[in-house]
Amino acid sequence: MSGGNPAANAPRCRLGVNIDHVATLRNARGGDHPDPVRAAQLALASGADGITAHLREDRRHIRDEDMARLAGLDAPLNFEMAATAEMMNICLNTRPHACCIVPENRSERTTEGGLDVVGQRETLEPMIARLADAGIRVSLFVDPEEAHIHAAAEIGAPVVELHTGEYHEAAQSTTPVRIQAAYDAIEAGARTAHEAGLEVHAGHGLTFHNVQNIAAIPVIRELNIGHFLVGEAVFMGLDGAVREMRRLIDDARTGLLV
Ligand code: PXP
Repeated sequence: MSGGNPAANAPRCRLGVNIDHVATLRNARGGDHPDPVRAAQLALASGADGITAHLREDRRHIRDEDMARLAGLDAPLNFEMAATAEMMNICLNTRPHACCIVPENRSERTTEGGLDVVGQRETLEPMIARLADAGIRVSLFVDPEEAHIHAAAEIGAPVVELHTGEYHEAAQSTTPVRIQAAYDAIEAGARTAHEAGLEVHAGHGLTFHNVQNIAAIPVIRELNIGHFLVGEAVFMGLDGAVREMRRLIDDARTGLLV
């Protein structure tokens, strides 16, 4: 997984910091502290290239007014959302830099799998076109499976974000075969997407311990990372956590895998 140095000449890998769980903590007490927009500003000052936030249908963490304030920052905002008419309207009014369309299910704890692009192409295709017309770069959050990656390219998505959740789960197990299989799927998915002309992003469940193998895949241009960074901020501060993640990604890109 970490042999050779294939990423040494790769372009820089951007880091998008997902601040949803700062809002989770705020909402636990119902007030306005800690403020996710303040966290976004700190993450940007610490090396994040952009901010990601997911406006869920149930508003369990990020709220409409948070999105509006995040869009006012002088930095790229990646607006994560489900493929619904309500979210389309909010996203078009918010005018973020980018929009990542994800599957959403009320009872899930987090985004548990990728989009069924093959099954939903008729819904997704016009949405991608409308967002693109508004100047918003669209990505589809997909499992690293050929069929969905090819379908994403066919319906005009410029970007796919590969779901790294299975790699995270596998890395917590002690089964090397499962870890290797999960890694191989991401690596092959990244190659397939790149060859199909898509920009490749990845995210979900990335930590200090598993990020480097993913960041070393040269065609991956952006990683979106949230829960671990907000959790680690309890121990080392958000500034320190983002700086360390940035360093690990940059080192993986120059071949300094730990
Ligand atoms: N990318 C997407 C599309 C996501 O839905 C999420 C979770 O909201 C993330 C990245 C970040 O995942 P995590 O919080 O596990 O780092």
